[in-house]
Amino acid sequence: EAGSRDVLRSPICCILGHVDTGKTKLLDNVRRTTVQEGEAGGITQQIGATYVPGDAICMRTEALRKGKEFELKLPGLLIIDTPGHESFTNLRSRGSGLCDIAILVVDIMHGMEQQTMESINLLKMRNTPFIVALNKVDRLFEWQAVKDAPIMEALERQKPHVKAQFEQRLQQSILNLNEQGLNVALYWKNPDKRKYVNIVPTSAISGEGIPDMLQLLVRLTQDMMSERLMFISELQCTVLEVKVVEGLGTTVDVVLVNGVLHEGDTIVLCGMNGPIVTNIRSLLTPHPLKELRVKGSYVHHKEIQAAQGVKLAAQNLETAVAGTQLHVLHKPEDLEGLKLLAMKD
Ligand code: GTP
Ligand code: MG
Ligand code: NA
Repeated sequence: EAGSRDVLRSPICCILGHVDTGKTKLLDNVRRTTVQEGEAGGITQQIGATYVPGDAICMRTEALRKGKEFELKLPGLLIIDTPGHESFTNLRSRGSGLCDIAILVVDIMHGMEQQTMESINLLKMRNTPFIVALNKVDRLFEWQAVKDAPIMEALERQKPHVKAQFEQRLQQSILNLNEQGLNVALYWKNPDKRKYVNIVPTSAISGEGIPDMLQLLVRLTQDMMSERLMFISELQCTVLEVKVVEGLGTTVDVVLVNGVLHEGDTIVLCGMNGPIVTNIRSLLTPHPLKELRVKGSYVHHKEIQAAQGVKLAAQNLETAVAGTQLHVLHKPEDLEGLKLLAMKD
């Protein structure tokens, strides 16, 4: 019910993996959008952010529950998309630094690749819990699509030779991941959630396994990270992009990880030529299930609570530096201290 949903903030989930494993496409499937098709060369070049509300999660996981109740304690999930191309290591690092949990996407036809390993190292470095989406199961020879179905149901419906292919590729991926020092298991065969990383087979095209992926993210965050998700008092906010938007002037896209932002807040940011002190003129978000990095219409807010992907319009943002922290000034006497703090990034 509504009351219990207010207790926890939305977890931030980062999608990581090698180029073209289907990170954006998986998110497109969840959103019912076609963001990937609009990307230059089909390559993601920025960090994205999408808010997936609780209602959407409930709807997409319904087939999995078969009438059983699902106590959703989270308002929703904020999903961060990252590029897989080798030249964007900094963005993968930034994205993974923002998240509570991650989805490591592996192409079932390719197994371990260069940026899979890089991503694993980023996750290990920060001790970030994650799941493995073993994506593109629909590319197994003669796979029969069972649109948006729970993955076990879809697997049961496959011909014996398709099941055998799946099993063989799964074992190969498990071996690859073991070689990276990871204990992994299909999520329904996982003997110990705290010791084994969950694997969920998916298709971003026909949607098999998407309900499982969403349910796993909810279970792992609300059941195992509730303490971390209750802490909302201290502001944590990272600048993703500086963008000129028609009618708004120069704006910054930020991820609000913790705390609250208000229209009119005085903010302090790192600028290329020194600290920027300005007031939030407009506090905007894309609509739920829409990508922050894609131009669209915005929802205006007086106040926004973490976690959210937010667009801020204000004066003097032209020189703001992506990847740095944004601070809010509460007491005038803190100004000089915040300016120093902002420039330390
Ligand atoms: P980068 O962000 O550039 O690293 O790529 P990505 O991981 O976001 O992959 P993207 O979503 O761009 O998908 C790459 C290609 O794989 C596209 O042509 C997709 O249509 C295709 N693709 C993604 N997921 C699936 C899937 O589950 N099945 C099949 N058959 N194709 C997929
Ligand atoms: Mg992408
Ligand atoms: Na791509």
